[in-house]
Amino acid sequence: MRGASYAWSGWLAVALVVLAHVLQSLSAGAYHGGARLTAYPKHVLVLTAHPDDECMFFAPTIHALLAHNVTVSALCLSRGDADGLGHVRAQELVRSYGVLGVPAKRVACVDDPHLQDGMQRTWAPARVRDAVRTHMNGTHIDTILTFDAGGVSLHPNHRALFHGAVQLQSELATPLSLWTLHTWSWRIKFWGVLVSVLQRGGRDYVFRSSMREYAQSLQAMYQHQTQLVWFRYLYVLFSSYMYANRVRLVVQAL
Ligand SMILES: *[C@@H]1O[C@H](CO)[C@@H](O)[C@H](O)[C@H]1NC(C)=O
Ligand SMILES: *[C@@H]1O[C@H](CO)[C@@H](O)[C@H](O)[C@H]1NC(C)=O
Ligand SMILES: [Zn+2]
Repeated sequence: MRGASYAWSGWLAVALVVLAHVLQSLSAGAYHGGARLTAYPKHVLVLTAHPDDECMFFAPTIHALLAHNVTVSALCLSRGDADGLGHVRAQELVRSYGVLGVPAKRVACVDDPHLQDGMQRTWAPARVRDAVRTHMNGTHIDTILTFDAGGVSLHPNHRALFHGAVQLQSELATPLSLWTLHTWSWRIKFWGVLVSVLQRGGRDYVFRSSMREYAQSLQAMYQHQTQLVWFRYLYVLFSSYMYANRVRLVVQAL
């Protein structure tokens, strides 16, 4: 009897996941307030802290922007040198963005002694602000997309980007929108595609990947060969950030 009920629960779980994937495919795309997103920025800068942030956290948004012909540039503020592999990881970053559809000429990676990868490394928001300002000089970037104050995983380098971007936004003379990636609670973060299809968004944008885009994100992750330890395989299967992004419009200047 017990065995039969376990079997039923197993089938029920499988059916639920299959259903979630079908819903995900049917509702792939960009949403705002429950409706399809219609107005897009022209040039978005994806501001990350480490090579692999782009595909582990931001891929659904990058796919949606590129699908609507938005120009996407990337600025990664460290080479991820915590294990001394920064020179390799900087190349992996370029390859990963290439798979996502962002050409190498629009991918920049900074190696600044004050902005080095590490849980114990504190990044001063003013330093982040200056690095981003220097990078943006002479470009037509109208929107910055980065982490929110939670930094996805409470990683201090991620959180510093938020504070640096807020500073920059408040000081710039030209209009600049600031979008931040919503940090999901640890309770639901690993419910994968289920979290994605249950997102309504409200005032936030929701970007949901199609299965083809998800496969592309996996391919991008695969470029980060130095990072492919066993738990990353679990991550790409179960993390909700692989399937959808919820993005807050902290400042919508356009
Ligand atoms: C993007 O650009 C391509 C080529 O110029 C065009 O065919 C396509 O319709 C555009 N897509 C959108 C959503 O504007
Ligand atoms: C931006 O670039 C111009 C010339 O290209 C330079 O004069 C100016 O100092 C730069 N500003 C910043 C903030 O880097
Ligand atoms: Zn990171």
